[in-house]
This record gives sequence, C-alpha cells and structure tokens, in this order.
Amino acid sequence: MARRPDFREKPKLKKLDRRDMSLKRPGLATDRTGAQTSSSPKKRRLNEMLRVDHAGEYGAVRIYQGQIAVLKARKRRGTADDDMLKTIRHMEEQEQEHLAAFNKILNERKVRPTAMTPVWHVAGYALGATTALMGEKAAMACTAAVEEVIEEHYQDQLDTLDADEEELHAAITQFREDELAHRDTALDHGAEETPGYRALSGAIKAGTRLAIRISERI
Ligand SMILES: [Fe+2]
Ligand SMILES: [Fe+2]
Repeated sequence: MARRPDFREKPKLKKLDRRDMSLKRPGLATDRTGAQTSSSPKKRRLNEMLRVDHAGEYGAVRIYQGQIAVLKARKRRGTADDDMLKTIRHMEEQEQEHLAAFNKILNERKVRPTAMTPVWHVAGYALGATTALMGEKAAMACTAAVEEVIEEHYQDQLDTLDADEEELHAAITQFREDELAHRDTALDHGAEETPGYRALSGAIKAGTRLAIRISERI
C-alpha cells in the first residue's frame, strides 16, 4: 500500500519559495551553488505543468476530506449513507496516491510547489464540505465537475509531453484513468440529479480552471 502523506505537515514552501524568490532575472533558474543558469522555455513549461498537477491533487484530497468530514458527522447522527462514505473514502485514498507521486516528482526535480497551497488547503476543503452539506448528490456533482476538468487537463499534458518522459507519461495516464473512474462514479451516484446541476457544475468547473491557471504561475 502506498505511503500516506501527512497533511498536518506543512509543505516545504518556505525553503523552496525563498530560493525561487531569489531569482534576480525572470526566466533564469539557479543551480546548486545559487548561480543563475539559463532555463529553457520547455523546462519552465514542464515545471509549471508539474506544479499545477501537484496543486490539483492536493486540492482533490482536500475536497474529498471536506466531504468525508460532513458525511462522518452525519454518520454519527445516523443519517449518512455508509456506501457513499466508503465510495468517497476510496476516491480520497487514490488522490493521496496521486499526491504522493507528485510530491516525489517535485522533490526529485527541485520544482517548488505553488505558493497557493495554503489557499487550496482551505478552498478545497470548503468546496468539499459545502457541496456535501448541500446533499450527497451535490457532493457527487462537485466530483464530476472537478474530475472532468482534471481529466481534460491531463489529456492535454499527455498530448504535449516529450517522448523521453516515459515514466511521467505512464503516471499521468494512470491518474487520468482514475479521475475518469471518479467522474463516472459520481455520475452513477446521481450527480446530474442535483437541483441546479448545470449552474453548480459550471461554477465549479470555472473555479477549477481558474485554480489551474493560478497554480501554474504563482
Ligand atoms: Fe487525482
Ligand atoms: Fe480524482
């Protein structure tokens, strides 16, 4: 079983951020000695891609954790659907695996995580909890919307990834399949039956796309 990262541990933002902020000229990276080196646009693009993937998986974990918290509270009151809780827990476990993989990749490639991580920590959880409070079908609508955007995002990356990035290609392919399965699970559990589904789904998709753009750059 994959090792579960501990989310109570703060990501190593400080150290990595400082190094990043020390760049004097935009577009130039530093080597181990701190000297500036040229970084190709291709490399920068790949780093942005990895940063946003990590952020996306982090956000996904937090969304599911927010939903789980609400369902657990309902369970204590005897009003939760146990199968639904198990389903969401399973998806959360898979997101933890995806996140652990990107944690490793970012560390290996010395790519800093997005400085927005603390924001996604709160926003993801809030989105999960809010939709779960709206009802189990709304929680599923949230999953369907987020996973659809993430799946498309991964497909775009697979289409543009260099041929020599075989390992990364295989990982993203696997994760995309998991996201597709999550979306299908959500649809099977009546996501589209949520009152106001189209508006809710549209808003969540727009928010997810915005979060992707922000995480690439910040
Ligand atoms: Fe994921
Ligand atoms: Fe997912």
